[in-house]
Parts: sequence; structure tokens; C-alpha cells
Amino acid sequence: MSDLAIRNIGQLVTNDPDRDGLVGAIERAAVAVRNGIVAWVGSDVDFPHAFASLPSMDVEGRGVVPGFVDAHSHAVYAGDRSAEHAMRLAGASYEEIQAAGGGIYATVSATRASSLHELVMASHDRIERMLRTGTTTLEVKTGYGLDLATERKMVDAIDAIDASLALDIVPTLLAHVVDRDYADDRDAYVEEFTGSILPVLADRVDFVDVFCDSIAFSVEETERIIDVARSLGLAVRLHVDQLSRTGGTRLAASVGAVAADHLDHATEDDLDALAAAGTVAVLVPGVSLMMREPFPDARKFLDRGIPVAVATDCNPGTSPIETMPFVVAMAANLCHMSVEQAVWSATAGGAMALGLDDRGVIAEGKLGDLVILDAPSYHHLAYRPDGALVQRIIKRGQPV
Ligand code: NIG
Ligand code: FE
Repeated sequence: MSDLAIRNIGQLVTNDPDRDGLVGAIERAAVAVRNGIVAWVGSDVDFPHAFASLPSMDVEGRGVVPGFVDAHSHAVYAGDRSAEHAMRLAGASYEEIQAAGGGIYATVSATRASSLHELVMASHDRIERMLRTGTTTLEVKTGYGLDLATERKMVDAIDAIDASLALDIVPTLLAHVVDRDYADDRDAYVEEFTGSILPVLADRVDFVDVFCDSIAFSVEETERIIDVARSLGLAVRLHVDQLSRTGGTRLAASVGAVAADHLDHATEDDLDALAAAGTVAVLVPGVSLMMREPFPDARKFLDRGIPVAVATDCNPGTSPIETMPFVVAMAANLCHMSVEQAVWSATAGGAMALGLDDRGVIAEGKLGDLVILDAPSYHHLAYRPDGALVQRIIKRGQPV
């Protein structure tokens, strides 16, 4: 918890709905943070005397945006699947690789074989890189354990990394795929997940997520998992209609999921249902890039009034992408989003997708999580996709 005045900001993105435009930008701005919480935001010339004694940082006309909120990741895992990517480039499909025991199952084997210490070592540097590119809040899913012991080890690893790095991690228990040992009795695996894994780990995570898709869980199986999660007081987010349309988007709407992610094969009617439910759509353009699939068209969501977040989906299979500035650039250049919308979706939108109302916005009372850009304006995030644009990160008023 820290005190800090950030002065001489060239352009500040606030995302404050009480200011003009989607991102509420202020030119020549300043921010005061007290005890880690934003205490004042405005024009630098109006900086109040009351905050004159705070330690002060002159950012010399740089642009500042809220810390990125990456609302979808699988950033804790062991092993290396780069060879699978080369196989996909040579023509193999994601589904074929998984059916042959690779894909998610390859990461499950490597994660099971790792000690807690090895798993933490394998994931810590990756998550530290995410922090260094401006992610101040990161959702991380389990799902590479499938059995209780390894799912618990993943939660332990998430907690250890959360404690050792300045960013906040939001943990999610993910029902990813059916354990191969249960291939002939899927029901028994759903029973195992809902009866043994969920109840034991429920109070250590904030959400339950289910991969509802052709190679993972059916709509009916997903419903069973959601019912138990709900009875344990857990909020729900879902992977839906990614590889094919199985009806997951409809299910997310009908159960009032906080977020529905991927959504590539959702129909117009599915999206109407999602809009009525108020569920946040989380788009993951890194998956489109790495799987050579069409990029999502954000207008289909925004025109219906669906709030849109963008996230890395950082994982060893479909999106080994770590940096939110790159996701903003993809969102703006490839997903039909305005620059403002892309920046909003990577910050305020991410916070909304995690049900967090204390961040993603720079306004009085919100967390002092800010990213100082090595550029005068947020426009550069979309304009320079390979730029090293993050100069400095402030987490709860404390320079990282
Ligand atoms: O979000 N869709 C399911 N899970 C991940 C992929 C996980 C993996 O391939 O390891 C995803 O795309
Ligand atoms: Fe995912």
C-alpha cells in the first residue's frame, strides 16, 4: 500500500463513465494515490495542494492507462508444446493431436509429473513477463491436473505465484477435459469432478469454468458441473462454442454466467440471448492468430450492447501469448474494434469479466493500478503492435 503522485501525464485514460468518451481521456493530467487507492484525478495544473507532500513521479508527458486486466489465462502449466504447433502448421488439426493423446493431455502429463516447486518455477517467469508488460490483474485457471491431487497442486502454485509477484491473480477451477482414464465412463469423471474435486477446492477459487465443446464437456455435462458449483457458492464463467457450435453460448446466457469466452461459432440468436443475460463476452484473438482461424468480429457483440473484454488466453496449446498490449493491437487491427474500445476491453472490460468493480478505471476510490507508456498516447498500443510500449507499472500506488 503506497502513496504516489503521478505528474505531467501527456494523456491519461481513465475509463471513468463520468468523463467524455468511452475511455474518458484527460490531456496533461495528474493522479494522486493514497494507501494504494486513487484519491484524486484531474488536470495537472489543478493538482491539489493537499497532495503536495506525496512522493512524486514526473512521467514527462507520457501516456498512462489503467493496469491491464487479463480475464482469461491458463498461465500455470509445465511442459512445452511448440512441436505441436509445428505439426499444426504442417496440416494436423488441434482435435487430431488431442485424440492422439497430445494437446491438453500432453500438458496434463507434464503438470502431473512436476513437483509443486517445478510447476511454480515453470510458471513464475511467464507470469512475471505478463506483469512486466502491464498486466496488474490476471485470471489463472487450473485444468491441467484433471485429478484432485494435481488440481490442488495447480491451486497451490497459483497461490505461491500470487504471493511472490505484485500482480493480483484471480484463481478459477477449470473442468477442462475428461481424464483419459475415464474415457469409457464419462459420467464417472463428471461424478469425480463434482463430488471430489469441486467440493474440496471450491473455497480456494473465485470461479468455476467448464470447457463446453466437442472435445471436452457436453452441454448436459456442463450443466451438472454448474449446478454443483452454484450450490457451493461459486460464480461461473465458461469456454463456449470455440471449436464448433455445441450450444454453450446459450447455456452461458441461461445460467447467467459472469463471462462467456471464445464464442467463435455462436450464432446471431445465441448472441441475442447473451445480450439479454448481461454476460460479458471475452474475445481471445491470440487463439485466432495461432490456430489460423478467422478473427472475431467485435461489432456483432458491441452492436447488441454486449460488454466485450479481450484477453490473452495464455496457454501452451492455442495461444502462447503473454502480452496485453499485443492483444489490444490485434483487437483494434483485426477484430473491428476502435482503439478506444480495444483499450477499454483490455482494462475496464477485463475487470467486468471478473466481476471486479474496484479496478480497470482510474477514478477516486479505485485501485492505484497504472501503466506508464513509452509513448505519448494510448493510440500507440494499436499503432505499434511490436513496440515495447510499457515503460513502468504502478500496482496499488507502488512502482513495480
Ligand atoms: O482456451 N479451450 C480450451 N482450453 C484452452 C486450450 C488449452 C490447451 O490447448 O492447452 C483454450 O484454447
Ligand atoms: Fe482458455
